[in-house]
Amino acid sequence: MTRRQWLFRAISMPALAVAGAALGGIFAQVWLAAGRFSSRHWSDVTAVDSLPEEGTSAFPGQRVALLCRGEDIGALSLECPHLGCLVNAVDQGFFCPCHGSEFASSGKVLSGPASRDLDWLPVRIQNGRVWIQGSTRLDSPLWVKRG
Ligand code: FES
Repeated sequence: MTRRQWLFRAISMPALAVAGAALGGIFAQVWLAAGRFSSRHWSDVTAVDSLPEEGTSAFPGQRVALLCRGEDIGALSLECPHLGCLVNAVDQGFFCPCHGSEFASSGKVLSGPASRDLDWLPVRIQNGRVWIQGSTRLDSPLWVKRG
């Protein structure tokens, strides 16, 4: 090995190691951020402990009803699929005061003019709180476990 080759290796190897470590750190941060919960697109609805074991809890301010079935929690949008009015939670399910559509407690449409069921929303539990993603609609329920 010539002196020039030795000098090149002595300088380039540590530089490559530092660059590799820096890139690895950046990729690790991106990877971890992708799996980390961010409240940016989620709305905090309530504490899990405040929900009943069974039944429906409406949160009109957030346009959502949380359905509790034992350990499972699901989220139904309270926006009527007819023209978007806020539906009311009633004993048998939901009622739209604008044009009278009725929905079962599962969100299934029982009478129109609404022609489809209430939408399901993404829901998740984070640090003992229930969070919903109001900007996304689901065709079928997404049940999450209480704890
Ligand atoms: S907006 Fe609900 S029935 Fe028309």
